This record gives sequence, structure tokens and C-alpha cells, in this order.
Amino acid sequence: MQAVEIFQDNAEGWETLIFLYNSALKKVGTKLEILNDEFVHIHRYNPIEYIKSRIKSPESICKKLKRAGHDTSLENMVCHINDIAGIRIVCSFTPDIYRIAEMIGKQNDLTVLSIKDYIHHPKESGYKSYHMLVSLPIFLSDRVVDTKVEIQIRTIAMDFWASLEHKIYYKFEGNAPDYISRDLKECSEIVSMMDAKMLQLNQAILEAKAQQYLD
Ligand code: GTP
Ligand code: MG
Repeated sequence: MQAVEIFQDNAEGWETLIFLYNSALKKVGTKLEILNDEFVHIHRYNPIEYIKSRIKSPESICKKLKRAGHDTSLENMVCHINDIAGIRIVCSFTPDIYRIAEMIGKQNDLTVLSIKDYIHHPKESGYKSYHMLVSLPIFLSDRVVDTKVEIQIRTIAMDFWASLEHKIYYKFEGNAPDYISRDLKECSEIVSMMDAKMLQLNQAILEAKAQQYLD
């Protein structure tokens, strides 16, 4: 059953819908914790630095619907806004992102609806991240409802850039002067270089440690 099929377009419907998205966030959060714990158990390595989740505010939902030319109804909200429930996984290194994405993709009780790889194909702004739109069944007392969650996976460096870029850009409401956009893009390239350098260093350290162990 899709979320849109069961709710009345009123305040109660809104509350039930938000309850559903919150439940989906909890479920994905627990799933990720288990995957991370298992990874630590097997590899003695923790790929996830931290996880943040949020429900999109009613104001942002309405703004986004209007921007896309839709009326503000629950039906439009469910059909057109994919990031009402959002979870952000922040990893140490870029390969961790793909490891985690693969683990998520293999979960049988969740469907991957779409993937956007802004690491291999960064946005014009310089934005990098790996996005997965997933749907998972929420088991209520008398029905099962498929609910969408947007998962963003990035490194700490990518998160640093995205958070500050968002803050800076927000001040200009999307109309930043050219030089600001240019400088932000340049910063994203510096951040990517740091990511690559840190990965290289980590690999060198792991190899040195393995060599020590052999000697
Ligand atoms: P939105 O309408 O912005 O949600 O775009 P979309 O539906 O095409 O999805 P997309 O995967 O492109 O982006 C979704 C989310 O990624 C946004 O809500 C932001 O959290 C993040 N994002 C995308 N582009 C940028 C960017 O240029 N800068 C920052 N800081 N975040 C971005
Ligand atoms: Mg969004």
C-alpha cells in the first residue's frame, strides 16, 4: 500500500504521515547501526563517522511543492517530495561510501528506487555526495505502508563543504554573485584533494602496519 492511498487530506492525515516518515527513519537508522556494528565486528574498522536524520519542515515542503508548480496537498507531498524523511551518513573515506551503499542495496526488506552518484558526476556547484532513494514497508497494526527515505552518503570533507556552502548560498537565496559560486567550486576541488590525500595516507599507514607485522 502506498502512503497516499490511506490518508485524508487534513491535519490528522498530516500527523499520521509524519509519524510514518519518522518510523521509516527509525527503521533505516537501526539498520545502519547493525550494518556498521557487523562491519566493525568483521573488519575491526568503523566506516561510519556519524549519522544525522531529519524530517523536512512543513514550510520547506510547501515551498518545494510551490516551486515545482504543485498545490500543497498531502497527495502531492507524498508523490512529489522524495526527501521528507532524510538520513545522512558521514563516512571517513570515499571507498567507505560505496561499501555502505552496496550493503544498503543488498538489504531484502528495502527497495532502492533511484541512485544519484554526485561523486563521479559532481553538481555544477561542486556538490559531491552519493544519494539513494529507498522505499521500505512500515508495518502498522492493520496495514503495511511503503515509505520513502532519501539517504545521502558522503565523507566528512564532502559534508564540511556541503554544510558551509548551504549556509553561504542560503544568505543569497540562490542568487550569489559569480565570484562566490566560483570560489565555492574551487573550495570543493580543494576538499576533494584533501579526501584523496587522506585516503592515500590511510592506505600507506595500513601497509606500513602490515609490513611491521610481517617483519
Ligand atoms: P532538490 O529539489 O534540491 O531535493 O533536488 P533533487 O530532487 O534533484 O535531488 P538531489 O539529489 O539533486 O538533491 C537533494 C539534496 O541534496 C538537497 O536537498 C541537498 O540536501 C543536497 N544538495 C543537492 N545539491 C546541492 C548543492 O549544490 N549544495 C548543497 N549544499 N547541497 C546540495
Ligand atoms: Mg532536498
